Amino acid sequence: MKPVEIKRGIYWVGGIDWDLRNFHGYLTQRGSTYNAYLIVDEKIVLVDTVKHHLFEEMLSRIKGIVDPSRIDYVVSNHVEMDHSGSIPKILEIAPKAKIVTSPQGEKGLRRHFKEDWDFLTVKSGDVINIGNRSLQFFLTPMVHWPDNMVTYIPKEKILLSNDAFGQHIANAKRFDDEIGWDILYEESAKYYANIVFPYGEQVKKALDALSRLNIEMIAPGHGTIWRTYLPKILECYQKWANNETEKRALIVYDTMWNSTRKIAYSLQEGLESEDISITMRALKTNHISGILTDVLFSRAILVGSPTLNNGILPPIGAFLTYLKGLRPKKRIGFPFGSYGWGGQAVKEIENVMKNLGWEIPLESINIRYIPDKEELDKTRKMGQKLGKIIKESK
Ligand code: FEO
Repeated sequence: MKPVEIKRGIYWVGGIDWDLRNFHGYLTQRGSTYNAYLIVDEKIVLVDTVKHHLFEEMLSRIKGIVDPSRIDYVVSNHVEMDHSGSIPKILEIAPKAKIVTSPQGEKGLRRHFKEDWDFLTVKSGDVINIGNRSLQFFLTPMVHWPDNMVTYIPKEKILLSNDAFGQHIANAKRFDDEIGWDILYEESAKYYANIVFPYGEQVKKALDALSRLNIEMIAPGHGTIWRTYLPKILECYQKWANNETEKRALIVYDTMWNSTRKIAYSLQEGLESEDISITMRALKTNHISGILTDVLFSRAILVGSPTLNNGILPPIGAFLTYLKGLRPKKRIGFPFGSYGWGGQAVKEIENVMKNLGWEIPLESINIRYIPDKEELDKTRKMGQKLGKIIKESK
């Protein structure tokens, strides 16, 4: 397997996971990569590694450049095992290498691997000299684990950003302009929504700290290296971290006997009459990780469930659990549903939206058994009202 020189003396030596389709519950239809980088200077530095099963692939790429036993430093920007999984094996080959990591990184690596490795812990701004170059480290806690940090190479103006700015895409091409903005935008948004969403405040702090650096290339831990669309992706991260949305609506629902579905489509008609763009996601045909991308973009989120056994339908329960964890803010919520006698589902949806701090400007819709024409007319009008609210929202 060949390495790819991304700048003179700096190589991508990662692994391509063509078959990955599920990354802890996130559907990764395009697979992924685990990006490791080798810096060849007076000292040899490996920045991050790959998931354990791709160790041999990484090793063969390194062997194409240097004897891996010569590695002096292994930088661990992040403990999660998709990046640290091959550290034990590379240290068997390069036993004198020091591990450079954050204080939380050291704690995490010790807990994961129970090894007494030679750690060199760094704080934000710390620099190590490796010959003609220096490496500078910035801690980015909770983007998206407590241990996260990034590595900056001032000489080449490259930021090795680990999970931040990543995308789950398996591709033989390494650079953004070789793949195209549309696919990268879609996959970066999905990645942000499913991995980084809860940490907007921490992302803003990290962006602020990094704005003082001169960066010409961002090489993340997954997917493509940014060199052409760098300003675009930085702008997106700023927007997403601020929970900025478009004036559009997302309708997520599940249905037992079609009543909740009928309500969903009447709401859609009402919203459309106000020229609001709609995304309709039935949970029978859409995966929750894909729906989170729509949540990222949408100002209003309408969630509908019939009542089953005094509660919500389980797929809606799974969606709401996932949503609660990812904590999108500044949304307009609208719960709806149908029921036979108890009718508790709508209240449960409402509680989740309230706990997320969303505005719920209108009374929820909860219709008994099968909606009749009059009820569907009312529902349509409610959709229209909501459309007006979305249009006027700031
Ligand atoms: Fe790509 Fe948080 O690991």
